[in-house]
Amino acid sequence: MTTNRIDGKEVAAQVTENVKKRVEVLKEKGLTPGLAVVLVGNNSASQTYVNNKTKTCERLGMYSVMVTLDENVSEEELLQNVAALNNDEKIHGILVQLPLPKHINEDRVISAISPLKDVDGFHPENVGKMMIGQQTFIPCTPFGVMKMLEYSDIDVAGKHAVIIGRSNIVGKPMGQLLLQKDATVTYCHSKTKDLRAMTKQADILVVALGRAKMIDASYIKDGAVVIDVGINRDENNKLCGDVDFESAKEVASKITPVPGGVGPMTIAMLMENTCLAAENTLK
Ligand code: GUN
Repeated sequence: MTTNRIDGKEVAAQVTENVKKRVEVLKEKGLTPGLAVVLVGNNSASQTYVNNKTKTCERLGMYSVMVTLDENVSEEELLQNVAALNNDEKIHGILVQLPLPKHINEDRVISAISPLKDVDGFHPENVGKMMIGQQTFIPCTPFGVMKMLEYSDIDVAGKHAVIIGRSNIVGKPMGQLLLQKDATVTYCHSKTKDLRAMTKQADILVVALGRAKMIDASYIKDGAVVIDVGINRDENNKLCGDVDFESAKEVASKITPVPGGVGPMTIAMLMENTCLAAENTLK
C-alpha cells in the first residue's frame, strides 16, 4: 500500500499564516496579542519547546515574555508570578510549562491561571467547558491533531478511534474531541490487557504512550490512519516517535512522521489560542 504522510509543517504553516493575519487586524485596533511562558528549572527538552514558542510568537508579530524560575522556586513564588501575569494587560495567554518539579502542586498552579488566559486549556473550568462542548480553549496538541485530520479530509464520524495514553494534556482531551466529531472512542493505557487486539481495531490510532518506536505494523489495521504524538530519542540519539514509522507506513493509509508531524501543530495551535484570547478581550 502506498503510504501517505501527513505533513505537520505544511498544516502548521497554514494555521500560523491565518493567525498572522488575525494579529495584523488586532494590531490595527491597537491590540498586540501577548503570551507569557513560564519555565521552572532547566529541563533541556522543556527549554527547547519554550524557546520555540516564544520565537514563533515573534515571527507572527505577537508579544511574548519568558519567565524563567529556579528549579528550587517555592510554590508560593510561582503562584505570585502567575498572579502578576493574570493582572498584566499586555499578556493574553499564560502557559506554565509542564512537568513542574515534584515539590510543586501542578493542579494548584494550573487552577491559579485565569481561565480567560489559559491558552493550554488545562484549567478545570475550561476542561469542563470542553467536555460539554462549550466554546473554550482546546489543549494545543489534541487541537492540532484535529486540524491535521480535517486538513487531510479524514472524516471521523462513525470511525473507531483508539487512543493509547490517558494524560490530561493529550489522551483524555483527544478522546473527547474525537467523540464530539462522532467517532467511537476507545482509550488504552498501561493497564490495558492485549493492547494489540485493541489497536488492531482502530480506523484512527492516536499514539501518546512515550516509548520510542513501540508501535509497529503488527499493531495496525490495514488502511488505518496513524497519528504519532511521541517525541523520543532512538538508540542513535535521533528524534523519533512512539510509532516505528518505517514499519507502520507499510500498512497505514495516512501517518504522521516524527519530527515534522504533530510537534509543529502544537505550537501553531498555541498561537491560535493566544490570538483568540486577545480577540476575546474585545468582545
Ligand atoms: N508539556 C508538554 N506539553 C505541554 C503543553 O502542551 N503545555 C504545557 N504547559 N506543558 C507541556
